[in-house]
Amino acid sequence: MKSGKLRSRFEGDLAEGVKEFISSVGIDKEVILEDIWGSEAHVIMLAEQGVVERSDARKILGALERAKSDFIEGRFELDPGLEDVHMNVEDYVMKDVGEDLGGRIHTARSRNDQVLTDTRLHLRESIIEIEESIIKLQKTLLKLAEKSTERIMPGYTHTQHAQPISLGFWATAHVSMLTRDLKRLKNAYIHVNKNPLGACALSGTSFPINRELTTKLLGFDGIEEHSLDAISSRDFIVETLSALSILMSNLSRLSEELILFSTKEFGLIELSDEFSTGSSIMPQKKNPDVAELVRGMTGLVYGSLMQILVTLKALPLGYSRDLQEDRALLWDSLRRVNSSLLLLDGTINKVRFNEKRMSELVSKNFSTATELANFLVSEKGIPFRKSHEIVGTVVKELIRRKRDFSDTGYSRDILRKLGVDISTRELRDILDPKKAIERSKSLGGTSPKEVERMIKKFRREVDKRERDIKERKEKIESAKKLTEKMIREL
Ligand code: ARG
Repeated sequence: MKSGKLRSRFEGDLAEGVKEFISSVGIDKEVILEDIWGSEAHVIMLAEQGVVERSDARKILGALERAKSDFIEGRFELDPGLEDVHMNVEDYVMKDVGEDLGGRIHTARSRNDQVLTDTRLHLRESIIEIEESIIKLQKTLLKLAEKSTERIMPGYTHTQHAQPISLGFWATAHVSMLTRDLKRLKNAYIHVNKNPLGACALSGTSFPINRELTTKLLGFDGIEEHSLDAISSRDFIVETLSALSILMSNLSRLSEELILFSTKEFGLIELSDEFSTGSSIMPQKKNPDVAELVRGMTGLVYGSLMQILVTLKALPLGYSRDLQEDRALLWDSLRRVNSSLLLLDGTINKVRFNEKRMSELVSKNFSTATELANFLVSEKGIPFRKSHEIVGTVVKELIRRKRDFSDTGYSRDILRKLGVDISTRELRDILDPKKAIERSKSLGGTSPKEVERMIKKFRREVDKRERDIKERKEKIESAKKLTEKMIREL
């Protein structure tokens, strides 16, 4: 079928360049199978409702099955001249079983509800894939955390040494962030997985269609009922891209830490060769390109979110061709987010932590100053503001004398001059970073006990999410099976 098929009301043909300009075949390649599945569900429903003869439906469904296998085996390629995937599939069916039968497939539907059906079917599987990749990364971080509840590293505020924390505490912070990303994606999924099919062009149809049946056949969790809303709205895409943008923001922070930690200046980690690249001119270079690209792609995903928001702004209800621009960046973002997750997972799996450097930094940088101030409060009855002042003065003095807390003798002398008497043994204990983290037992603190407790909690959360994903995947699979079964039964 030529695009001329839709042009009986026109006197002339399209001007040069228009066909290519309006074609969505480039972005529709992703949803050929979805388009075929949606068509199958539609035809089964039309047959069940008596809108199309069962014998006709059987032949049309045969053509759709052939379209599927031809596509899988590389024999069915979309023709850009046919505008989009919907017209291409219809054209395939017409050529396969003739125009009389093929011409019946589009009864009681529109490309407007079709494009949304395809997009939602595709998007829900991509969301699940990304959720699975998040969980993979979480598990890697949890594995790292489990063996790192007593490995000390500097904790930063303002990118300045702040207080000692454990590596396990650092790793679980990222797990904790990702937990919310999973929730946001699941929420987006709830709005994505609704059936728009049957909304038709905008107003529903006078044919006695059964939207519940197509909902079941396509494994949707419910119907996007209101026809005008169903074909006009793309907020499920906005929600997905918002969730992905926040996820990328979190991943870019993890990436930034990996980049910083791997510098000579920090020296906290060494990236494995498998996840580092060289320079074309400087033979000594080892660059963290994977982490940098995750950081870079974050901008692209934010851009996609902005693009869909701007496309939707002030667009009147009903389908407008602007809406065709809703997918190019979406597909691209989904791919990039997923590979970001997988490659970060690989990076973390293979990274080597420089424990010597970590504990060296922690003991040379006054990171236990707050511990000392706390001690003056709890053991010496000094008000915190005063103890802050005393410890600040100790630090100032030590810096002046080019010393640090590891010189317990010096520290003790200075304290004594300020009117505080602490034994060397006690002082050593207070200033010991390892003991400091053990004392941070408050809920959510860095103590090994708390981190162990949180690891268990995150593990339970991960299990729960995995079960939920499994259920959703099973539902999709059994919908596919139900469609196949009903095709066979016709
Ligand atoms: N190719 C179109 C898209 O991607 C499908 C819907 C076309 N609908 C229409 N009324 N022209 O959005």
